[in-house]
Amino acid sequence: MEDQLKQLRQSALEELSQVSDIGRLAELKVKYLGKKGSLTAALRGMGTLSPEERPRIGQIVNDIRNELEQLLLRKNDQMKQEEMEKRLSSEQIDITLPGRKIYRGRKHPLTLTLERVKETFMRMGFMVADGPEVETDYYNFEALNLPKDHPARDMQDSFYITEDLLLRTHTSPVQVRTMQAAGSNKPVRVIAPGKVYRRDYDATHSPMFHQVEGLVIDKGISLADLKGTLELFIHEIFGNRVRVRFRPSFFPFTEPSAEVDISCVMCAGKGCRVCSGTGWLEILGSGMVHPRVLEMSHYDPSIVSGFAFGMGIERIAMLVYGIDDLRLFYDSDLRFLRQF
Ligand code: PHE
Repeated sequence: MEDQLKQLRQSALEELSQVSDIGRLAELKVKYLGKKGSLTAALRGMGTLSPEERPRIGQIVNDIRNELEQLLLRKNDQMKQEEMEKRLSSEQIDITLPGRKIYRGRKHPLTLTLERVKETFMRMGFMVADGPEVETDYYNFEALNLPKDHPARDMQDSFYITEDLLLRTHTSPVQVRTMQAAGSNKPVRVIAPGKVYRRDYDATHSPMFHQVEGLVIDKGISLADLKGTLELFIHEIFGNRVRVRFRPSFFPFTEPSAEVDISCVMCAGKGCRVCSGTGWLEILGSGMVHPRVLEMSHYDPSIVSGFAFGMGIERIAMLVYGIDDLRLFYDSDLRFLRQF
């Protein structure tokens, strides 16, 4: 019996020393220590021993069992450790690979320009108004003193949806909408930025572009208010060095009307390609609100007066940033857009 046990121990140790995977280890555990395992069988065979031998053999069996249990446990730990190390070295993350660069978005130059224009007027106490881009003939023309067949419509006759509906050709219809919403003779001081549409397409004209309209109405508003407001605005945007010129012009909805020019920002007024040698750049249209326009919107020209102006944002942005082709604004070319 004793020899048998020694042999059992020997073969167990041998087999254990050769295992190399956890599955096999579990099998050996069952083989030797399991309910039907060899050691358990030996324990059962003790019934045949003499009472003197029993404790001694029992001790040996227990010793072997303990030894094997310890060994199995250690083997198991060791294998788990090895497996972990293998995974750690094979699944290494290569931290030397440079990360992918995330490009940060930025504001479009037209947005930047519009924000500056808006901010400048808001500091002068203007509110921001808006109106629809699909406009009726009445608001776009009629109520601005541009009756049907008026020759001044030609310049702007463009995208019609029906006989009576069109894409607005300027932001001036918001003048009418604002007056009618305010109620007769109520003071108004608004700007109205937005998209407008015309039948034009070249390096300085696009079929869609942006304007900012301005309208001020109150008792006693004069041409001096118009001049002071626009001069202040221009100096804020272009700097105090530019000179401002008011040149008589015509718009059906203002009387008198003036185009506003600034001294050329490229050549400082000496004359260059950008200003066609004149030294001046036209940047906006303006005038005192025509009495007919006030009347049509239920304002009384004998009580209140006002001035209005309208400017193209693309034009201002081109001059501020020195851009010579308007189409760059709409091409979405990142090489261009990243410069702002
Ligand atoms: N609406 C005019 C245009 O688009 C500009 C303008 C606005 C002129 C207000 C005078 C007063 O050309």
